[in-house]
Amino acid sequence: MSEAGDLREPRLPPVYRLHSHDSLTSTMDEARRLAEAGAEDGTLVWAREQSAGRGRLGRSWASPRGNLYLSLVLRPECPPGEAAQLGFAAALALGEAIGSVSPPVDVTYKWPNDVLLNGRKVAGLLLESRSTPEGGLDWLVLGLGANVASYPKESRYPATSLRFEGVPRDVDEVDLLEAFGRAFLNWASRWLEDGFAPLRTAWLRHAERLGEEIEVRLPNQTLTGVFRDLDAEGHLLLERDGRVTPIAAGEVFPPEAGGAAPAES
Ligand code: BTN
Repeated sequence: MSEAGDLREPRLPPVYRLHSHDSLTSTMDEARRLAEAGAEDGTLVWAREQSAGRGRLGRSWASPRGNLYLSLVLRPECPPGEAAQLGFAAALALGEAIGSVSPPVDVTYKWPNDVLLNGRKVAGLLLESRSTPEGGLDWLVLGLGANVASYPKESRYPATSLRFEGVPRDVDEVDLLEAFGRAFLNWASRWLEDGFAPLRTAWLRHAERLGEEIEVRLPNQTLTGVFRDLDAEGHLLLERDGRVTPIAAGEVFPPEAGGAAPAES
């Protein structure tokens, strides 16, 4: 299915069912609609632009043409809490994809699922899911936004794009989508077969600010401490006054970051 304007159609492994769009409000809306209608695992919604792209914590995600916007419907057979580990698979896959389309660059991962290029955010992931009445996972939609051609100048965390970091102009969002599709298949299979441990190891190898002081913003408070580790489930382990606190959800900043933040991430 295709409505994707003048970009070439991506070539993806056959496990993906690609729905290409020129423009959508948000690929999340379309993927959720398809998931509710029974879409299969591997249904991938891609749009060239979004008019109402959304990020984590209800923020907006600027979505002009030239960047990558996709949402993937997944139906892993696992408890809803564990499915969030697929966010790490997607971050690792995007990091690998960037490595495969660009000259050597410094890719790091910022907890939970941001991808940084030379210390600035190049991509973010958004996970939305629905459980069955019995408490199992019905579907998970994994949304990925990656700055290929441009990045927002006003952002909570310093942002960048592949183009700004010197990736050649002929690398476009279709190249990145194809590379991501291949790499995600590998990381998701790895997770299904061997669990979270290999993902945790790979992620920690390139973790942003591991062993350093960080600020973690939670809905009602901000904690400062040292980023010690990830636990076996993917929670961030923050050491404060000699005690280690596992954190399931929050936003990480350098400790000096404080102050009011603009609306986009
Ligand atoms: C973040 O806040 O870092 C997550 C951003 C996720 C943005 C992507 S773009 C494709 C998909 N559609 C959306 O509306 N959001 C996600």
